[in-house]
Amino acid sequence: MKDIKSKILYNRQVAPGFFKIALEAPYIAKNAIPGQFVQVRCSETTEPLLRRPFSVHRVENERVELLYEVIGQGTEILSQKATGDVIDVLGPLGNGFTINLKSSATLVAGGIGVAPLVFLAEELKRQNINATILLGARTKSLILCEREFKRAGAVHIATDDGSRGYKGFVTALLKDKLSAIRYPLSAVYACGPNPMLKRVSEVCEDLGADCEVSLEEKMACGIGACLGCAVNIKGKKPETKMVCKDGPVFKANNIIWP
Ligand code: FES
Repeated sequence: MKDIKSKILYNRQVAPGFFKIALEAPYIAKNAIPGQFVQVRCSETTEPLLRRPFSVHRVENERVELLYEVIGQGTEILSQKATGDVIDVLGPLGNGFTINLKSSATLVAGGIGVAPLVFLAEELKRQNINATILLGARTKSLILCEREFKRAGAVHIATDDGSRGYKGFVTALLKDKLSAIRYPLSAVYACGPNPMLKRVSEVCEDLGADCEVSLEEKMACGIGACLGCAVNIKGKKPETKMVCKDGPVFKANNIIWP
């Protein structure tokens, strides 16, 4: 992990409220694995004081791309940065996904949860692993990264309002798709809101599929110091782990879901 000054190559809106920023960041591009994240200082002033965490979304040569939703002061400031501006980026941080070379992969993305899964899908393709991608959104205008995922595997879409693809939650689509797979059962990787991940975990447990989830938690320090991103983990004696340091990727069936 390094704290680097990184030049912005572009920063543009890709869907209503969602932006993609590309950074010149050779160290992070070389060392990041899918599921890891970076902490970005969005402003040169102390407002906001804290860095913001973003999953590594894509890596291409020396370029690192981040996909983010504008949801507060930090991301609002970031969305106004221009090509050529320099920002402070700390990373790569956290633990990434485990790639199982013996199994096909099913990726389940909800909303901005697509961000780390595009990097994973591209890495799976590089390793010749068959991937099925289940992409969930509230409505069709909020479907993100369909084109990128299509380059890496078979994509199925679910929208809550039925405006595209399967009508309903992406977790119901997962149950249908996974039930149809015989042997060997696909490894499942998911990222999205916690209620979605909890349901993904239940479906996988019922069907006996290995599942890893990337948790989206609010983070302050990003390095395990502030204890602000706790998650409870099963064990003989349940224990508390930090999403930033011990995750953000965890085995789904190890998590004590709230
Ligand atoms: Fe501080 Fe995780 S963000 S411990």
